[in-house]
Amino acid sequence: MSGETKAELVFIPSPGRGHLLATVDMAKLLIDSDERLFITVLVIKPSFDPNSSSHSYSPESNSRTRFIDITNVDSLSLPMSSPLAFLQQFIENHKDPVRNSVTKIIQDFGPNCGLAGFVIDMFCTAMIDVANEFDVPTYMFFTSGASALGLMYHFQGLRDYQNQDVTVYQNSSEELSIPSYKFPVPAKLLPALMFDEDGGSSLFLDYAKRFRETKGIIVNTFLELESHAMKSLSQDDNVPPVYSVGPILHSDNQNDRNLKYDEIMKWLDEQPNSSVVFLCFGSRGCFDDENQVKEIAVALEHSGHRFLWSLRKPAIGHKFRTPGEYDNLEEVLPEGFLERNAGIGKVIGWAPQIAVLSHRAVGGFVSHCGWNSTLESMWCGVPMAVWPMSAEQQMNAFLLVKDLRVAVEIKMDYQRNLMGGSNMIVKAEEIENGIRRLMQPQSEIRVNVEAMKLKSRMALVENGSSLDFVGRFIQNVMNNIS
Ligand SMILES: *[C@@H]1O[C@H](CO)[C@@H](O)[C@H](O)[C@H]1NC(C)=O
Ligand SMILES: *[C@@H]1O[C@H](CO)[C@@H](O)[C@H](O)[C@H]1NC(C)=O
Ligand SMILES: *[C@@H]1O[C@H](CO)[C@@H](O)[C@H](O)[C@H]1NC(C)=O
Ligand SMILES: *[C@@H]1O[C@H](CO)[C@@H](O)[C@H](O)[C@H]1NC(C)=O
Ligand SMILES: *[C@@H]1O[C@H](CO)[C@@H](O)[C@H](O)[C@H]1NC(C)=O
Repeated sequence: MSGETKAELVFIPSPGRGHLLATVDMAKLLIDSDERLFITVLVIKPSFDPNSSSHSYSPESNSRTRFIDITNVDSLSLPMSSPLAFLQQFIENHKDPVRNSVTKIIQDFGPNCGLAGFVIDMFCTAMIDVANEFDVPTYMFFTSGASALGLMYHFQGLRDYQNQDVTVYQNSSEELSIPSYKFPVPAKLLPALMFDEDGGSSLFLDYAKRFRETKGIIVNTFLELESHAMKSLSQDDNVPPVYSVGPILHSDNQNDRNLKYDEIMKWLDEQPNSSVVFLCFGSRGCFDDENQVKEIAVALEHSGHRFLWSLRKPAIGHKFRTPGEYDNLEEVLPEGFLERNAGIGKVIGWAPQIAVLSHRAVGGFVSHCGWNSTLESMWCGVPMAVWPMSAEQQMNAFLLVKDLRVAVEIKMDYQRNLMGGSNMIVKAEEIENGIRRLMQPQSEIRVNVEAMKLKSRMALVENGSSLDFVGRFIQNVMNNIS
């Protein structure tokens, strides 16, 4: 029955709601593009974080996508030397149930089910071994940008092929030439994880080493945003083909449209076009030192701009908990701040970020430069002021300011470490200055981000670069079963 070829892909995201949602969005993009594709998502539930229930997602049921829960393997007895080591072992321990599930899929569908490969995310590289047992290739879904992917490859290469100790770059004042970045990068902007002394650092690069075993890497970016990085990756013979298929945005859930959502939108409706500066530091973003909160407040007040500020309270106790909300904002803000600014500003906790960035009243975004926030800001055409916190965010900030020129700098080398605490306090004058440059009408960054907005949208229409890459990826997959 030629013409009825079917290809079955098995997706394995890391545990946690965020990873699962990203996978669901990715799966939908592929399913919608080709009727021959079938996807089974194997859902590994995080037994170590029972409250981040993966059942709170609502998969769009579709005859070609299904979800199978993977039996939980006890993880409480695992050693917790570092978060990465823990996650690595946790995934490793799920090889058996994954193997059993895939065996069952093959039994259910018969020998012509067309198992065409595994699609894993970056922390599930252990599952490459299982794919190999079934003699099918593995693809990776990388949720940060192509520049960051190139960064990992670069340092893994220095370590493994040139025998360099990459930890020498910690505290270095050098500027480094990294192929996926157009301009030399100050070493102080490298991800802190690379220098983690609990073994996280070598594990981090070990992941990159295994990325090389995959048959292709799907990246949530678009060619026009990271043309330099995409080119450098395509010129490296030791890197599998990279497919930029984004921006895949995580549209907010209708369930999140609560009273707070309505209140925020109503407030924005009352503000003039492009007049509001929006401040948000990501789902894990907060300031451990209340003096930093006060410096921001002073800066906002002095700038005179309207503002919407998502301010989160650092979690007490467990260091990996996500921040919460302040019960009483007066405690942390300068005296009288809320009253004095009642007409021009609003301080909130949780923020419906895409909806806010899409609002005509928002004219600038003070951001931690997480990759998702970066894509959302580009999609909405809102210029950024960079204030990165952790992970690869400093490098994203560098890309936005130096190469793409769609952002101004507040503080590029700010670092908040996972255990709490940061390397500096950014002073009010510096913040105010950044906000003023950000909010300038008709500036170069505003013109550039408007152009990037159009490009982000063009990437996802017929014959656009991202849909083109989706087509090429599917072709790669179909070749496995013919
Ligand atoms: C982006 O968001 C998705 C879904 O919430 C998450 O899985 C992913 O890790 C995020 N990417 C980054 C680089 O933070
Ligand atoms: C999970 O949620 C329940 C009920 O909200 C709470 O009592 C419990 O402490 C939470 N567990 C963790 C590990 O946060
Ligand atoms: C960098 O500085 C930190 C803090 O001062 C120190 O603990 C670390 O050993 C230094 N690293 C190198 C490679 O010199
Ligand atoms: C404000 O923006 C909206 C939507 O972009 C536009 O329709 C409207 O004309 C603008 N208003 C003014 C006063 O420029
Ligand atoms: C896309 O490209 C194909 C082949 O070149 C062409 O036939 C088609 O008209 C294009 N579609 C659009 C919307 O440009």
